[in-house]
Amino acid sequence: MGYCNMSDVMSDRGVQWVVADPVEKNVFWPSEALKKKANVSDPKIYEIASKDPVAFWDNLAKEGITWFKPWTETYSWNPSIPVYKWFVNGKLNISYNALDRHLDTWKRNKAAMIWVPEPLNEQCRVMTYYDLYREVNKFANVLKSLGVKKGDRVGIYLPMIPEVQIAMLACTRIGAAHSVVFSAFSGEALKTRLIDAEAKVLITADGYYYRGKGVNLKANADLGIEGTSVKNVIVVKRLGTNVNFVSGRDLWWNELMEKADAKCAPEEMDSEDLNFILYTSGSTGKPKGVEHHVGGYAVQAYWTTKWAFDIHDEDIYWCTADVGWVTGHTYNCYGPFMNGATIVVYEGAVDYPAPDRWWKIIEEHGVTIFYTAPTAIRMLMKLGDELPKKHDLTSLRLIATVGEPINEEAWLWYFRVIGGGRCPIIDTWWQTETGGTLIHSLPGIGPYIPSVAGRPIPGIRFSILTEEGKPTEIGEGGYLVQNSPFNPGLIRTIWKDPDKFKETYWSVYGGNIYYTSDGGFVYDKLGDIRLTGRVDDVMKVAGHRVSTAEIENAITQHPAIVECAVVAAPHEIKGEAPVAFIILKSGYSYTPELEAELRKYIDKMIGPIARPEKYVLIEDLPKTRSGKIMRRILKSLIKNAPVGDITTLQNPESVQAIKERVGYKEPA
Ligand code: PRX
Repeated sequence: MGYCNMSDVMSDRGVQWVVADPVEKNVFWPSEALKKKANVSDPKIYEIASKDPVAFWDNLAKEGITWFKPWTETYSWNPSIPVYKWFVNGKLNISYNALDRHLDTWKRNKAAMIWVPEPLNEQCRVMTYYDLYREVNKFANVLKSLGVKKGDRVGIYLPMIPEVQIAMLACTRIGAAHSVVFSAFSGEALKTRLIDAEAKVLITADGYYYRGKGVNLKANADLGIEGTSVKNVIVVKRLGTNVNFVSGRDLWWNELMEKADAKCAPEEMDSEDLNFILYTSGSTGKPKGVEHHVGGYAVQAYWTTKWAFDIHDEDIYWCTADVGWVTGHTYNCYGPFMNGATIVVYEGAVDYPAPDRWWKIIEEHGVTIFYTAPTAIRMLMKLGDELPKKHDLTSLRLIATVGEPINEEAWLWYFRVIGGGRCPIIDTWWQTETGGTLIHSLPGIGPYIPSVAGRPIPGIRFSILTEEGKPTEIGEGGYLVQNSPFNPGLIRTIWKDPDKFKETYWSVYGGNIYYTSDGGFVYDKLGDIRLTGRVDDVMKVAGHRVSTAEIENAITQHPAIVECAVVAAPHEIKGEAPVAFIILKSGYSYTPELEAELRKYIDKMIGPIARPEKYVLIEDLPKTRSGKIMRRILKSLIKNAPVGDITTLQNPESVQAIKERVGYKEPA
């Protein structure tokens, strides 16, 4: 008779995965147990990769991805345009890599997704890889039956329900590019994106649960498709509520799926074919359609998931990011599925029905890898240690962050209270444009240092430059840039706007250097990097990327507003929050009603995530002689920091007036 030892069954539970540095306070390294387990633990990988990054990625592409046809050239690059291509002429399908290739292995019956609905009285939905494969095939056939072809664009405006990943994988299966729009964006914001992408079909839902209430998403979707090229709207029945339904145009997901065949051959895609478009905020009012192409994105998504989260077959991995953002694309869909991982997807609010909901989910599902944003950590930290301590979180073995700099206090709380002082924290730096994470410590190598992301991953070259383009010394602040060969998943262009692409990323230091718009400095001799935030007019509000210009556009449409400038102010929990400086037309006064109306404008044009924290009524905005608003000065004033030289302003007196309004105190 065979007996098993209980300690073998859950042998990873509660293991000490990190050790403290013997000298440096708050610096941690992988323990022997972690080094032994980790997918990567030999630091030589950095050296090998840097000797020949192209050969390094060539090997990774062969090992990690199933190709229908091999490439003829690994990397091609022309700085004058600039154009860079990876795995040229290689053929593959990313949906095939996420699903089909697992079917001949034991993973066929492995849980691909554990979906957790917000209402506690509803059952979780568990889908195996085979289940997911069938659903994706069926939905791919549904799209085909509506005339969607390779190269077409499909809008996806869905909450966090399994249909969102099914829809994405179905699009890429038939070679249609998806454009996922975050479900908390307004109908107007959806419309702008659908028009720009010229989407043929929109996939949405009747609604979803948020904080116990049903949200009618279909009403926003109806607004969003007005005046667009969308011919059909496919509606998932999530709430079962009565929603507006236009016969002929609107179709129920479940009815279409009932009739669909469960086999749809994956389209053979060129490595440089369009995989998806994802809109993100830049320094103008118009969101940019970031283009990601199939081959390079797939290779990077696959490997970075394996490296950053040290994914193993038995892990239960939970990334809390909404699929509407790039983190959701790469680490809540493509990356983990290509790795054959089990993901947890949660529909609802962090604090519903109680603020320990996330900890309850970790306990109940035995989550081993947890990936979230510093904002959420700060918010949960404020609520105290009692809530997480009510739950057994010892299943966790790796915890990670993304989206904004994490302050030391939040890092240490996350490390101590959530990670139990056992788990490494992987602080991943990346952008919508980079497609996947690029700067972080490797779990099996370390170090893990509060507020320091780590080194660029193997095969990637970053520098921190001065304004003049000179490399900085350790500790000296500068601009973060990437050098060729660029990461395989890097943005290929901006959809329908190649000039903007050139201007945004390749004009500051020329066509040889990708400009990130982030500031930072090299922290130590190892080359670990600390990121300090955006240096352009983009804010990270609760981890969400929002442009000041978009908010300004919305506010200035109100008849009471003459002019307005929005800047990011530091915020204890959200990291940053917008503050709007407004000038009123004569005859108007600032009242709570006006503030409520402005809030409605923002909600209508963008969504509640962009609501200013505060409005400051002023008479004049500081401007240069050429009429440019000096947001830098406003930013300093709001932080009570010195404003520097203002003599070159057209209206230096405006600064004094604003100082009074914001209660600025001269430094002693
Ligand atoms: O400023 C950096 C910040 O988020 C920006 C990119 O935002 P987005 O395109 O929405 O992608 C977010 C998810 C990858 C960057 O330019 N950022 C992202 N990760 C970090 C970060 N800042 C500091 N530390 C990070 N780990």
